[in-house]
Amino acid sequence: MIEPCSYSGAATSVTPLSGRFAGRIRLSSGVNPRGPHWGRNQERTTMSTALFNNIVNDLNQIPDRRVYGRVLGVQGLVVEIGGVQTSLSVGDRCWIHGRDGRRVASEVVGFRTGRALLLPFSGLDGVGLGCRVEIGEERPTLRPTIQWLGRVINAMAEPVDGGGPLPAGDVAVPIRNTPPAAHSRRRVGGKLDLGVRAVNTFLTCCRGQRMGIFAGSGVGKSSILSMFVRNTTADVIVCGLVGERGREAREFIEDDLGEEGLARSVTVVATSDESPLMRRQCAYVTLAVAEYFRDLGLDVLCLMDSVTRFAMAQREISLSAGEPPASKGYTPSVFAELPRLLERAGPGCEGSGTITGLFTVLVEGDDHNEPISDAVRGILDGHIVLERSIAERGRYPAINILRSVSRTMPGCNTPEENALVAEARRLMSTYEDMAELIRLGAYKAGSDPLVDLAIAHHQPLETFLTQGKREGTDLSTGYELLRAALAPQR
Ligand SMILES: Nc1ncnc2c1ncn2[C@@H]1O[C@H](COP(=O)(O)OP(=O)(O)O)[C@@H](O)[C@H]1O
Ligand SMILES: [Mg+2]
Repeated sequence: MIEPCSYSGAATSVTPLSGRFAGRIRLSSGVNPRGPHWGRNQERTTMSTALFNNIVNDLNQIPDRRVYGRVLGVQGLVVEIGGVQTSLSVGDRCWIHGRDGRRVASEVVGFRTGRALLLPFSGLDGVGLGCRVEIGEERPTLRPTIQWLGRVINAMAEPVDGGGPLPAGDVAVPIRNTPPAAHSRRRVGGKLDLGVRAVNTFLTCCRGQRMGIFAGSGVGKSSILSMFVRNTTADVIVCGLVGERGREAREFIEDDLGEEGLARSVTVVATSDESPLMRRQCAYVTLAVAEYFRDLGLDVLCLMDSVTRFAMAQREISLSAGEPPASKGYTPSVFAELPRLLERAGPGCEGSGTITGLFTVLVEGDDHNEPISDAVRGILDGHIVLERSIAERGRYPAINILRSVSRTMPGCNTPEENALVAEARRLMSTYEDMAELIRLGAYKAGSDPLVDLAIAHHQPLETFLTQGKREGTDLSTGYELLRAALAPQR
């Protein structure tokens, strides 16, 4: 079924750009944010130019004609449509016209016996046999702007913070982008201050590096992310809260991010009650927004809590489309999608900024070898392991330094810093080897000078690793404190 189109683009409000990144940003259109378009006295010009651009962009997106199919079957969440299957491919957006007048956004997830299979982004109430299905965008895009900073959006890039309409930028960014080619990517940059001394010193993270944070539930993953947000020196933060409970997402935004953290971040949320497509797309949108800021030449810190929920969403989607499960119920496409997602973080090409990615992995049953942990560990440039036994004795962040690694170390450190870290690791590992004997009182002081040294430094090192949720320690202070912890003990 084919129908002519009419324009129904919505005008959006535009707020003037703050001076925070003035002079640092490279816009692909060549517009300097400091230039005449962005001056305070040019606010009216800015608004009308932006509105005009929005309308032109909306008009450009309207296809010459609209093509419709029909719903031929509904099984669980999967909608089978016919009539247009040869015009569709996997990943295309469609709109199902419900009987109650609602348009349900959906995505093509596969084909079976000559029919296209769609999954909806929301409920299917009002959808029945014969309903019209309109074919939408081939490669869904979003149009971020720097004015999205401070906003909370959902996986459809709609505002969910009650802060009014979201302005649209000039550049359309594909939601499912591909990472830059390996040969054109820059190498990781200098150190990025994350504000957590255990990470800054023992697991130093460089700009453009990707790290995983592995832990069971309730061991402190979200808390350590919130510490990074509040204390990092990155220009912009993009947070993706994928499949969290609604309460947790709200607490994270209101309490953990705080006003200051929120002001320099964009938060994308899909809670656990949302459809698997929304949860998966939340991860894609998070990276698309991060890529937008990276291409402006900024250093972006991209946080995702959690990659496991992204993998679970992909599992639900592919099982619905009929893909057979492989490992622990996870389908092969989960393991294909993980690197495609995580590789999008990293350094950009020459002239652009970087995306430093920190991704949490929920380790089910504290089994660090379960399939998702294994797959993610292999893709990333380092892992931070949080351990329940450490949290239980009240030491937060509960990082097991000896089991964690940053693959950009020791290259990013000075020889003196490396020597300090190596010495601390040596003492920690000696103490761990002997911990059982020491606790039982079976070790006799003076039998081994190295063990004596490890015992003497155990408490200062534990104190060094302990950091309150609201406390920040910058890179150089971190090394100073470590030096003090390793100083000869009386
Ligand atoms: N740095 C910290 N200082 C004190 N308590 C902490 C710290 N980090 C985490 N916690 C405690 O651990 C609990 C669980 O942390 P949370 O980040 O929600 O875990 P997860 O995201 O892994 O489920 C928090 O409620 C808090 O009591
Ligand atoms: Mg959490």
